[in-house]
Amino acid sequence: MASELPTKTYIETIDVKNTESTIQSLDKLIKDMNGIDILVISAGIGHINSSLDWTLEKETIDTNVSGFTAIAGVGMRHFIKNGAGHLVGISSIARIRGSDIAPAYNASKAFMSNYLEGLSRKVAREKLPITITDIQPGFVDTALVKGDKIFWMASPKKAAKQTYNAINRKKRITYITKRWILIAWLLKILPGYLYRKL
Ligand SMILES: NC(=O)c1ccc[n+]([C@@H]2O[C@H](COP(=O)([O-])OP(=O)(O)OC[C@H]3O[C@@H](n4cnc5c(N)ncnc54)[C@H](OP(=O)(O)O)[C@@H]3O)[C@@H](O)[C@H]2O)c1
Repeated sequence: MASELPTKTYIETIDVKNTESTIQSLDKLIKDMNGIDILVISAGIGHINSSLDWTLEKETIDTNVSGFTAIAGVGMRHFIKNGAGHLVGISSIARIRGSDIAPAYNASKAFMSNYLEGLSRKVAREKLPITITDIQPGFVDTALVKGDKIFWMASPKKAAKQTYNAINRKKRITYITKRWILIAWLLKILPGYLYRKL
């Protein structure tokens, strides 16, 4: 990407599972860049884990919960200090209900969305000029998606374009692609006993 971009780029390789070094590296990156206006947290993993293998569950929690929270904290502290900024997290439609085959993934995305809502309430109540956006994709054709019979799978290009537009419009929550709002609505109203039978 750096070689393709016409503007100056700054690169830092970060393993978000190591939260202490993530915070240090991100602080350094922000300093090198002379501040940032927007922070998009996209790093995430998901495992099909029907056997509830702890290593896989832990990796998901370390990345999607601890890593996410560490990065969000660095961004928020910087934006509060600077008096402006935009924090974007990529959670998922999966955040709405629990999963039998990937329980840690869905739970981690519920954490992300809930955390972002908490931050949006914080900025509203403290009148901070900071925007909080929660991007909630359905299925996007990337390495993260496992299994067959995937429906409404968007191309990464289409998903990226809709995500970009939602960020520009400073949306609080957006579904990618847009029609996933229907699934989100259904998932929210479906009673537990019916959801368990699906
Ligand atoms: N694809 C979907 O259908 C879908 C649906 C809902 C939500 N999402 C969310 O969208 C986000 C992006 O996923 P994607 O679909 O673009 O999948 P992806 O192609 O697998 O990308 C995942 C990204 O996360 C990075 N990452 C994973 N573990 C990391 C770690 N420990 N430290 C730093 N970076 C790490 C990966 O970096 P490396 O390449 O260096 O490993 C990669 O860039 C994720 O949060 C995912 O949960 C995706």
